[in-house]
Amino acid sequence: MKGAVRKAVIPAAGLGTRFLPATKSQPKEMLPVVDKPSIQYVVEEAVRAGLTDILIITGRGKRAIEDHFDRNFELEFYLEQKGKTDLLKEVQETSELGDIHYIRQRDPLGLGHAVSVAREHVGNEPFAVLLGDDIMVDDSALLRSMLDVHDRYGRSVLALKEVAPEEISSYGCVEPEVVDEALVRVHSIVEKPSREEAPSNLAVIGRYVFTPEIFDALDRIEPGAGGELQLTDAIGLLNESQTVYGQVFTDGRYDIGQKIDFLRANVELALERDDIGPDLLAFLVDLLHRRGLT
Ligand code: UTP
Repeated sequence: MKGAVRKAVIPAAGLGTRFLPATKSQPKEMLPVVDKPSIQYVVEEAVRAGLTDILIITGRGKRAIEDHFDRNFELEFYLEQKGKTDLLKEVQETSELGDIHYIRQRDPLGLGHAVSVAREHVGNEPFAVLLGDDIMVDDSALLRSMLDVHDRYGRSVLALKEVAPEEISSYGCVEPEVVDEALVRVHSIVEKPSREEAPSNLAVIGRYVFTPEIFDALDRIEPGAGGELQLTDAIGLLNESQTVYGQVFTDGRYDIGQKIDFLRANVELALERDDIGPDLLAFLVDLLHRRGLT
């Protein structure tokens, strides 16, 4: 289905077991990257790309996400009294980011299930999905180009990235047919293939634009890899009746659900900041020096 995409769905109901114990009693999507919860980067990316209606899929223990995007009058009053106007502005802007809705996924049965609970809210229109634990530091360029592909072809579009052969078994993986430099048609798709079985080294990364027919496909899937209802399996079914495209990108993405990527994201984004970047750089140079690495 063609038409301007207005809605974004942000699944954030997973258990975040790869980041335990930090995620035992707080959502991983609230882990701060520098001084902002990672899900705020994701919401800002969606808003920057022109998406005006945001639905966050939450679950048990995720109330902090709703509080974060809500007004906090006591805090605002306190900051105002203290004359901390910059902080006040920032806090107020967070609660004015857009039209944000919430729905609960009662059991974390998998990403496919998380997207399926958005059905009623999304209705019969195309929509984007942005995983709540994937940060893009590209000024929404990837998402915008995926929305352009959807506008051109009226079909679903996946974000794809080349990964090292030993990493492909952690991702959904596609067999591509090249359309042009960065655009492919998805010939087939498989979730978490072994290195030997992987049809390519192109991994599906947490940005998608879907036609509403994905919901019918989601209704038909059975538990797949890891016993979870896999979005990848629904994409495979959708691809039988509608061409699915893939937009290949090269860098700028961090999976903050992985400890090493979380650290990388913090360092890169902190280095870009005028207030703390120079101090952090000096610290890193000194650290390398002390360890005999420079
Ligand atoms: P992940 O597989 O990275 O998240 O899902 P997880 O299950 O929380 O992580 P681990 O493997 O236990 O560490 C990608 C995104 O999909 C959401 C997650 O919150 C994350 O943002 N998700 C996943 C759901 O909303 N529901 C689910 O049932 C599973």
